[in-house]
Amino acid sequence: MSHDLRTPLSIATMTLEMLRQVKDLSPETIELVIDRGLRATNAIERLAKSVLDVVKAENGEGIKVTATESAENIVQDIVNLTLPLAEKKSVQLRAQLRAPGKRVHCQKTHIEQVVGNLISNALKFTPEGGSITVSVEQEQAQIVFCVADTGGGIHSDHLERIFERFWQEDHAREQGTGLGLAIAKEIVEQEGGKIWAKSTPGRGSSFFFSLPCADGQ
Ligand SMILES: Nc1ncnc2c1ncn2[C@@H]1O[C@H](COP(=O)(O)OP(=O)(O)OP(=O)(O)O)[C@@H](O)[C@H]1O
Ligand SMILES: [Mg+2]
Repeated sequence: MSHDLRTPLSIATMTLEMLRQVKDLSPETIELVIDRGLRATNAIERLAKSVLDVVKAENGEGIKVTATESAENIVQDIVNLTLPLAEKKSVQLRAQLRAPGKRVHCQKTHIEQVVGNLISNALKFTPEGGSITVSVEQEQAQIVFCVADTGGGIHSDHLERIFERFWQEDHAREQGTGLGLAIAKEIVEQEGGKIWAKSTPGRGSSFFFSLPCADGQ
């Protein structure tokens, strides 16, 4: 984490200092330096946003739920939204809707963020030609959502740890900060649900979360 923040911060500082100290830079070099600085500040901004998301979820901010949402609509909307990203990576993304008419108490944007984080992981860890299935079904009084991929999978010793903040498998350290699943867990638990994962290394991973079915269903 400190590395994630320190590297872009020092790049941003360095580029500003360079612009101040070096007087005879060509317009092309100035452009390059500014570009580098902007990439660094964008990285800082993304990291700050992830940290703020964790804090918000932890405080239960905005999770005062008054409405019910269609479980199938949540899945279909987020799948439609992320379809272009999957197509770009030549990964098949499909929705499997098996909870017709079922509703859950939740704030739709929050649950969309959870499903979005899970799909973004699945896309990141599934090579070209693989597939991702986002499904929803009812199990007794719960609605269970699942994002299953055919990617590299997760070592069984690590399954307990992946929901910890900043925890990443060694091979994953170059991409992301290890906060997506921690944020997803906070949100799901704030909404009265549970989140868990299963995986077979080399064959894929499935992430599940459940939310209570809205009253009377
Ligand atoms: N679908 C998946 N397939 C394989 N490994 C996964 C998958 N999802 C999560 N992981 C493992 O769990 C770790 C934690 O995931 P998490 O989403 O919290 O962080 P991240 O994706 O590395 O970074 P961020 O979400 O902050 O961009 C990942 O770094 C990776 O090691
Ligand atoms: Mg992630």
